[in-house]
Amino acid sequence: MVTGLFNLGFSTICATPHQKTGQYLPSLEAINNAHKATMDAVQAHELPVRIPLGAENMWDSTLYQRIEDDEIPGYDGNRVFLMEFIPNQLPVGLFQRIFDLRCRGILPVLAHPERYSPLWMAPDLVEKLAGDCAMVVDLGALSGHHGRKQAKYARKMVLSGIAHAAASDLHSPTDLKGVSKGIEWIRKKVGLDAVERLLCTNPAKILEGRHPDG
Ligand SMILES: [Fe+2]
Repeated sequence: MVTGLFNLGFSTICATPHQKTGQYLPSLEAINNAHKATMDAVQAHELPVRIPLGAENMWDSTLYQRIEDDEIPGYDGNRVFLMEFIPNQLPVGLFQRIFDLRCRGILPVLAHPERYSPLWMAPDLVEKLAGDCAMVVDLGALSGHHGRKQAKYARKMVLSGIAHAAASDLHSPTDLKGVSKGIEWIRKKVGLDAVERLLCTNPAKILEGRHPDG
């Protein structure tokens, strides 16, 4: 997967293992060991890529507790973290919690915003979310690999400029094709400037904990 992303032009690849109550909560030690093993293999293959460690945090009781304790697993140890919701419902009290996080100088990053059906017919909610969160569309969704509806809304978000960044969401080497097609779609429909903004400039800002529009 790292070789494939490197060949597509990626030089920084954020590893974001899922954190989900009751389903996938590996210990920090197990995560660190897997990260180290990956880095060792990357070094052995002499691939010049950086692989900062983060997490993809499901918006659930574990994340609530970590927010309370100020122990959210963020990108690169910064005050910025990746989150996801259950696809068919927005969490209760979401906007209040996001507001509280922003007041504490923490930037939430929303993974695959095109996946949440309650947002499809609610441009006002999308705009509100994008004001406080970084919106990162999935390249595989852009290329149509996750179905027509996700493709439609991912594309809409890129075309309207509300998407701040695009990411691979790579789970296996078979996803690489969708990533490559997604980048190509952006280049063709919006241009090289958009590729630069969505895959270089804005991701760099986000990793520093800065809102791309800020
Ligand atoms: Fe996800």
